Amino acid sequence: MIEACGLAKSFGSAAAVTGLDLSVPAGTTLCLLGPNGAGKTTAVRMLTTLLRPDAGWARVAGHDVVAESRLVRRHIGLSGQYASVDECLTGRANLIMIGELSRLPRRAAKRRAAELLARFDLERAAGRAVRTYSGGMRRRLDLAASLLGQPSVLFLDEPTTGLDPRSRLTLWDIIRGLVSAGTTVLLTTQYLEEADQLADRICVIDGGRVTAAGSPAELKAGIGSAHLRLVLCEAAALGRAAGILARHAAGPVRRLPAGGGLEVPVVPRGGLVTEVVRALDAAGIRVDDIALRQPTLDDVFHAVTGPERAA
Ligand SMILES: Nc1ncnc2c1ncn2[C@@H]1O[C@H](COP(=O)(O)OP(=O)(O)O)[C@@H](O)[C@H]1O
Ligand SMILES: [Mg+2]
Repeated sequence: MIEACGLAKSFGSAAAVTGLDLSVPAGTTLCLLGPNGAGKTTAVRMLTTLLRPDAGWARVAGHDVVAESRLVRRHIGLSGQYASVDECLTGRANLIMIGELSRLPRRAAKRRAAELLARFDLERAAGRAVRTYSGGMRRRLDLAASLLGQPSVLFLDEPTTGLDPRSRLTLWDIIRGLVSAGTTVLLTTQYLEEADQLADRICVIDGGRVTAAGSPAELKAGIGSAHLRLVLCEAAALGRAAGILARHAAGPVRRLPAGGGLEVPVVPRGGLVTEVVRALDAAGIRVDDIALRQPTLDDVFHAVTGPERAA
């Protein structure tokens, strides 16, 4: 539903996006994950026909974003980084107006607005001016506005930035619901957890280019294995404990610098931690603390953006 090849845009001499390649199958979610200034909004603006690329091409819902921009616009919804609703109008009036601007007859616009207000839990606030809405309500209204034309492809630029954790969860549920109903979603975020929660595929973007791509699981797997970390009551038992741990290890056992602890790469499976503790107990070794740590997208993010930022 979304395809891009070599998409590029500079502002003056500053390159904002350099050679972006994307391919998003229908009914899936792609997440562009990157820090501020990475080029996420610029990429979204090119894909949504708001900005003309300097180089490369993109097709959305089968149409070229430059040559067939009007056709593209007919199939897409965009919820921008900054809410696009009118502060002085009520929630309902905003939706009806946007519906009419996108050429729905007034009756249809009213009906669709009512449906969306109910779906996004905005019915009670529908008659109030948007300036009285909370951040979460605004975001839901903005998302509702982007759905008036029943788009098959939805672009969400940092949909939960600045929201409280509860509103974020609500929005995640809404987005998941849209995807399971068949909508294709391209979402940008600075939050690793958000990408992990929502994306079928993630492109980590930094300095205008993709620095890593894959499913959340692939990105995590690429960064290394899970680790078992162990602290003993008596440092004297470290040597013997290392011998026992080695039987469960997927790599060399390492002593932690602060003393008293060991760390070992493992292949996680049910019951692993119990087995290790039992084996140590049987050898009379007392354990103070044990933790199984899975690699997180944070590790991925720091691995692929870290060195470059420092340079
Ligand atoms: N209209 C513009 N004029 C000049 N520079 C811009 C403009 N839009 C974006 N940029 C620059 O392009 C880079 C990427 O910006 P942007 O796409 O907004 O990143 P993100 O959305 O990931 O934060 C930044 O360095 C930004 O300052
Ligand atoms: Mg942005």
